[in-house]
Amino acid sequence: MGDWQKTDWRRLPRVQMPDYPDADRLRGVEARLASYPPLVFAGEARRLKAHLAKVSRGEAFLLQGGDCAESFAEFSADNIRDTFKVLLQMAMVLTYGAKVPVVKVGRMAGQFAKPRSAALETVGGVELPSYKGDIINGFDFTPESRLPDPDRMLQAYLQAAASLNLLRAFSTGGYADVRKVHAWTLGFTASPEAEKYRELANRISDTLDFMAAMGIDDEAAHALETVEFFTSHEALLLEYEEALTRVDSTTGQWLAGSGHMIWIGDRTRQPDGAHVEYCRGVQNPIGLKCGPSMRASDLKALMQRLNPRNEAGRLTLIARFGAGTVSEHLPRLIRAVQEEGANVVWSCDPMHGNTIKSSSGYKTRPFESVLREVREFFAVHNGEGTIPGGVHFEMTGKDVTECTGGVRAVTDEDLSDRYHTACDPRLNASQALELAFLVAEELSGRRADLSRAEAV
Ligand code: PEP
Ligand code: CO
Repeated sequence: MGDWQKTDWRRLPRVQMPDYPDADRLRGVEARLASYPPLVFAGEARRLKAHLAKVSRGEAFLLQGGDCAESFAEFSADNIRDTFKVLLQMAMVLTYGAKVPVVKVGRMAGQFAKPRSAALETVGGVELPSYKGDIINGFDFTPESRLPDPDRMLQAYLQAAASLNLLRAFSTGGYADVRKVHAWTLGFTASPEAEKYRELANRISDTLDFMAAMGIDDEAAHALETVEFFTSHEALLLEYEEALTRVDSTTGQWLAGSGHMIWIGDRTRQPDGAHVEYCRGVQNPIGLKCGPSMRASDLKALMQRLNPRNEAGRLTLIARFGAGTVSEHLPRLIRAVQEEGANVVWSCDPMHGNTIKSSSGYKTRPFESVLREVREFFAVHNGEGTIPGGVHFEMTGKDVTECTGGVRAVTDEDLSDRYHTACDPRLNASQALELAFLVAEELSGRRADLSRAEAV
């Protein structure tokens, strides 16, 4: 446990966190949360870390995805189920297409707090604090709603607990049984992607029938009936994180009890800041967003602070540069990792560097740019001889129109149809599936290249 305390972050400069107007009420909420059970168990976080260690060696692939921001209004069993379904479908495409085990991590059950580039928002000449996610303030553009309210943390905790409960039930209660591979198809996905998925599901069913006829044993059958599913979110609101921080009785180490994996955003990664200080002390796998402004020296300092023992699976570097700029930024960070001999997972977030304002005024992401950034990420890793370990998407199982493009092309004009996100634009189910097919192609192409290289 060393000399780290879960309150140490309070002494350091903090950014992006709310100033609560009523300190007593805040303390009351923190005390209640601290008395509640943690949402995850340390053994689970360690299992995820072991899986990520495999990813860092190229023996598995990380699929991380979910809402940009979970919201209280959109909380429903159907929404959770549909996002879970698409993640299962994507994982199937990757496992079957690229023949790698897929580590599945949702941006779910805790993804409530948002960093914002602007502290204030102006609408019709009125200026109010920006919306910071439902755990902090409200989306409605009124002074009352935009005031940070600590009680929102209790609501977020309850929603996270109920979401996680349902996700655990789906994962192990029969829903995720691979023999249901056809049933995960979402009703509305009448697209070439859905057709491709159906063909793949047919092939999987055939294989399963064949294995059953051969008499597969109970242990193998059990492995097909359940999936391991993990949760993650940005550790932005440190009062909430601290209140759910617990000592793991089996190892004596600290655990962030709010989710299996937590990450540090591109705006809160100051090496001597509060967020890095909090994350360095807990044993969970940690993600670190790496944007265009990150220098090699910043990354070295951060790796030193966040993973001083160079534990494999501890640190996932999530590159988010924007299409067209990956080859400008990623190589210097890959070299920094190599110079330090650091064990990391490299993951690609093709969302946050590709946000634009559409001609119709909506914040959107052109699907073409998302695809292009993924391709560039793979190309740079292939060139450097390093391992592209995973992808990180903002997506939903709903048929939304938030990102433009894709095979069922969403146009600028379509954006207003079903634009439901509480924050950034998400891929819809069909776009997410399309992306999974692309990643599977990239991965299997890479494996073919590697085996050719080994053969000569
Ligand atoms: C996010 O993942 O929602 C986010 C805000 O990312 P970043 O810190 O990379 O901008
Ligand atoms: Co986002």
